[in-house]
Amino acid sequence: MSRPRLWITRRLSDATLERAARNYEVVINHEDEPGTADQLIAASAEFDAIIPCHSEHFSAEVVAQFSDRLKIVANHSVGVDHCDLPALKARGIVVTNTPDVLSDATAELAMLLMLGAARNAVAGDRIVRTGAWDSWSPAFMVGKQVTGARLGIVGMGRVGQAFAAKARGFDMEIHYYNRSELPADRAQGAQYHANIDSLLGVADFLSLHCPATPETTNLMNAERFARLPAGAVVVNTARGALVDEAALCVALDSGHVAAAGLDCFQVEPGGNPAFAQYDSVFMLPHIGSATRKTRDAMGFRALDNLDAFFAGRTPGDLL
Ligand code: DGY
Repeated sequence: MSRPRLWITRRLSDATLERAARNYEVVINHEDEPGTADQLIAASAEFDAIIPCHSEHFSAEVVAQFSDRLKIVANHSVGVDHCDLPALKARGIVVTNTPDVLSDATAELAMLLMLGAARNAVAGDRIVRTGAWDSWSPAFMVGKQVTGARLGIVGMGRVGQAFAAKARGFDMEIHYYNRSELPADRAQGAQYHANIDSLLGVADFLSLHCPATPETTNLMNAERFARLPAGAVVVNTARGALVDEAALCVALDSGHVAAAGLDCFQVEPGGNPAFAQYDSVFMLPHIGSATRKTRDAMGFRALDNLDAFFAGRTPGDLL
């Protein structure tokens, strides 16, 4: 029997590509550029399966032009806001993602951003790196202490819980807002807020861990930034769509938000050049899950889903 044809849209880890080649007739986009709408439409006629990343956009308009050959989109990502799920389902195309395996890597990066934003990492690095460090005093680069502070987590799913676990190592008082309250064994003492505004009022540090949906677009707007305690630090490792970036700039200008750590932006790649003027904004280019261990795990999870599908089983991460 011929092997299913699989298009891998980006350069995944070596171990993933080697494993994929054992079971599928694979075409890999070695140029590693995001797949365009035209490429996705053409691929739907040539391949039985695609492993895309969040850089490929399966809009309703694109999916409407798909051929009937494509059977499964096995995402190499936990977020699926780049996929119009109803449109894909309406075409009978199975869609999966890669939850769990990137939670620790993303929570690590949230911790890095929180600490870096709180402790002047941007200005501190620059002043040493450029040789401009010529004085010291007790008033020099005084930041905000994380240990023992109140942390608000929006979205207490797998990544939110992994971040809470790491924050406990800093003795933070953990609060969270989630669609539903977690059972005690998963909340681990974190205090539940049934609405986000109640959470914001206690969030000296705020970290976003919810998916981007129509309901969460611009979740953090001017009104919500104003609800944070003065001098709060905001961290986003989830999706840029969650933050009204102009409103964040206004909150930074007034000092009401003291600092921000951002791995995600409304426009990616590229980010928002307006943030470059703020030393108080510590930025990274959407690399929350970018560790070798996690890249292998994401690739293997996507292949596990494909393998299950082509073996006639329900993929573990069916959406
Ligand atoms: C995810 O998996 O959603 C990460 O943002 C990387 O794509």
